[in-house]
Formats: sequence, C-alpha cells, structure tokens
Amino acid sequence: MSASETVPILINTSSEIEAQGARSVSCSDAEDVPLVPEVAFESALDSPGINRESQPLLGGLDVSYNQFPDDPAFSDLVWQAEVAIDHGIFPERISQGSSGSYFVKNQSGKIIAVFKPKDEEPYGRLNPKWTKWMHKLCCPCCFGRSCLIPNQGYLSEAAAYLVDHKLSLNIVPKTRVVKLVSETFNYFRIDRQKARVKRAIMEQFPNVGLRFNRIGLPPKKGSFQLFVDGYKDADYWLRRFEGDPLPPDLAKKFQLQFERLVILDYIIRNTDRGNDNWLIKYDPPAVANGKSAPLVPPLSDPAAPEVAAIDNGLAFPYKHPDSWRAYPYHWAWLPQAKVPFSEEAKELVLPQLTDMNFVQDLCDDLYLLFKQDKGFDRNYYERQMSVMRGQILNLTQALKDSKSPVQLVQMPAVVVEKSQSQHTSRFFNFTQRFQDKSPFFSWC
Ligand SMILES: Nc1ncnc2c1ncn2[C@@H]1O[C@H](COP(=O)(O)OP(=O)(O)OP(=O)(O)O)[C@@H](O)[C@H]1O
Ligand SMILES: [Mg+2]
Repeated sequence: MSASETVPILINTSSEIEAQGARSVSCSDAEDVPLVPEVAFESALDSPGINRESQPLLGGLDVSYNQFPDDPAFSDLVWQAEVAIDHGIFPERISQGSSGSYFVKNQSGKIIAVFKPKDEEPYGRLNPKWTKWMHKLCCPCCFGRSCLIPNQGYLSEAAAYLVDHKLSLNIVPKTRVVKLVSETFNYFRIDRQKARVKRAIMEQFPNVGLRFNRIGLPPKKGSFQLFVDGYKDADYWLRRFEGDPLPPDLAKKFQLQFERLVILDYIIRNTDRGNDNWLIKYDPPAVANGKSAPLVPPLSDPAAPEVAAIDNGLAFPYKHPDSWRAYPYHWAWLPQAKVPFSEEAKELVLPQLTDMNFVQDLCDDLYLLFKQDKGFDRNYYERQMSVMRGQILNLTQALKDSKSPVQLVQMPAVVVEKSQSQHTSRFFNFTQRFQDKSPFFSWC
C-alpha cells in the first residue's frame, strides 16, 4: 500500500470563500466572565403563565441573530420559542442524557425543538449533569474524545444537518445555531444575581437602568433542532423487527433509509452513533391474534419506517480516533449492515461525492459555520476537513465497488490533506495518507 499520493485539483479560491462570508451570522458574544465559579440551577417553574422574572429576558437578546432570511419558516419557529419563553413557557431540560439539552415549546406548550447550549455540553463549563463533572474532575485524560475539538457539539449538530441537506439525505431534522435565554437553563449564580440587581435598578431608577446593555440573563448560543413527532429510539423498533420482521417491500425501504444513515455517519465520522441516537417512526399494521394482520383491508400500503438521525454533536473529528478508543458505529452490528449498498444510494450521492468542486463547496460551507465559534482555529478546521475528505474517498470507493456498510467500516482510515500548489493560487494539491493502525480496543 503506498503511503501517500498527491493529486493537483482546480477548485474555488479562498477569496471566493471569503466573499460568501457575508452569509455568516454576526456573533459578538458579550458573555460575562464569572467572578465566582458557583453554579445555581433553578428548577423549571411548574406554573406556566406570565412570570415577572421572564419579562425582560428577550431584552438581552440580539433578536437579529435568530433570523434566517433564507428560511423564514425556521425564523418563525425560533420566534415562537422566544414568545413562549417570554410568556413563561420555558424550555424543559431532558432528564436523560449527559448534557444540558432542552425540549423547547411553543406558546401552546407543544414541543417544537431540541436546544443544546454550547456551555452545557458534556464537558462544557455549565454542564448540569454530575457524572460528566466527576469524569472531568477525576480522570480528565480518560474521558472525553481526544479526537474532537472540545465544546463544539452545537456546531457539529448544525454541520451534520448541513451535510444531510447538501446530499439530500433527508434524515437529520433541520438544525441551526441560535441564541436563547431561559431561566430554566443552567447559569452561574452570579449571572442570576446580576440579572436580579439590574432588574431592581430598572424598576426603581428607569433612567439608570436604560444604560444597561442587557437586563436579563445572558443569552446562550446552541443548536436548535426541529422536534420530530411520532419517533421512538431505533433500539425499540430494531428489537421489534427481530421478532416480527418487516414485510419485504417495507424492509427494502427501511434498508434505503438505513444506508442514508450510514452515509451520513461515515462522512461526518460520527463517534457517538449508538442505537439510542437515531430514531425510527413506524406504524405497524394492526395486530390480530398475536400475528401482524390487518383487521380491515388497508386503503393504502402501510407507511415504510422512517429514520431520523439525532444527537450528532460528537462528529467531525480533527484526527481519526486513536488506537485504544475506536468509537465504532453501532449500526455495523445490525443485519442491514451486511447488505451491499443499493443502486439507489449510489445514484443519490455518487455524482456529488466524486465531484471535487462539490466537496470543496461542502468544506467552504462548513468553514462559514465553524468559524463563528469563539475558539475557531483554522488549523484544526483544515484537519477536520482532511478527515472528512478521507471518509468521502473511502465511501465513494465502497459505493463503486458495491461493498456493504460492514466492509466500508473495515477500510483503512485515510486523510486527504490540502495544500496550496506552488505554481498557481488556483490549484491545490491533495495528499492521501493512510492511518494504518487498527484499534486494539474498541469501546464507546
Ligand atoms: N429532534 C428530535 N426530535 C424528537 N426527539 C428528540 C430529538 N432530539 C432528541 N430527542 C429525544 O431526546 C432524547 C435525548 O436527546 P439527545 O440524545 O440528542 O440528547 P443528549 O443530551 O445529547 O443525550 P446523550 O448525551 O445521552 O446522548 C432522545 O433520546 C430522543 O428521545
Ligand atoms: Mg443521545
């Protein structure tokens, strides 16, 4: 196996990328540095309705941040969440899970989205779950994923949607980065106290209060993902399908959905795809005498199972996982993973993935997304893209060779590095490197 291979390719120049930068959102975070590292968590208020404390919350929010001119429906949904919060219908923390994730509701109390604030991610400074806090404290080198840039899970969530959308996979619920404020979020005690004092001053001395930049709690930046109704953890349905297999036509349709999940996960190198991190929606035909049989002749075929890929926050590593923690894709143990990729999957993604301009466009879009983080580092971004290009290279080869997902995950990990050509700025060299070591310990 040759260690490296260099290919010159013509693609968009970096000045063109910068020109697109106008599309990126402004993100001047005025987060206050806490003086006292003390955390105060106030439980969700159980009585909805207008709560005085919530009144000035939106006063601190740069409302233009949450506007998406290219997607008015999404802007409207975020607006509904803001209005609900302003009326005391607060996001509710999801009890399961290792991070501060919240079900966001509209004014009628219906869950419309899942919000994951950056600073409440598993190893974020305001993560409310004590297990992660203990991990960080007791054994910092053994926990967390050393191949990932820390605390950028919210960007990974939005980036997974971006990849899904560009490839028309249609399995990731729409996810974008927004800012929200809610007193049910986890804040430092000092932030809550400051907000109270400012509010009191505002009430007593309105003229002084008007000089404050922000009255309420600090807004939190995070991923905002549409809530999909009627889905259950994949684990639930996969067990059911074992005992009660799907009819062949539905099994075929499910296989196509499954392949889309494989394509997504492989490209973004998801390190957290357990069977609880994807969802399936399925309405089985009515059951009679313990057997699947329609009680009345169905008017139309039962709908095929649909897949939703959620929880994409631990993807886009800047290097392949190292040899002692491999973070396998858990779908690789499913029977569906032994079936060669279908013609439909090939037709869907091969034309784009084999087009170097498409791949470069994808990298450029990810650049615009990732660079909005305060800790953005161009070198790490380039390394993330090298891993992603390597994944795309393997995937296209696997699709062309009609391999199965199991065979795909057994291919040697490769990175494709980009460097400027010495001859002209419009050319780049791409260098392929194999990461040959196979993991000796596989644990997620
Ligand atoms: N977009 C969504 N639509 C519907 N339900 C969702 C969505 N996102 C999350 N959920 C539900 O919320 C649960 C927790 O979500 P998720 O796994 O993304 O959170 P998490 O805090 O990252 O958890 P963990 O760290 O355990 O993976 C999921 O198991 C699922 O039931
Ligand atoms: Mg999860």
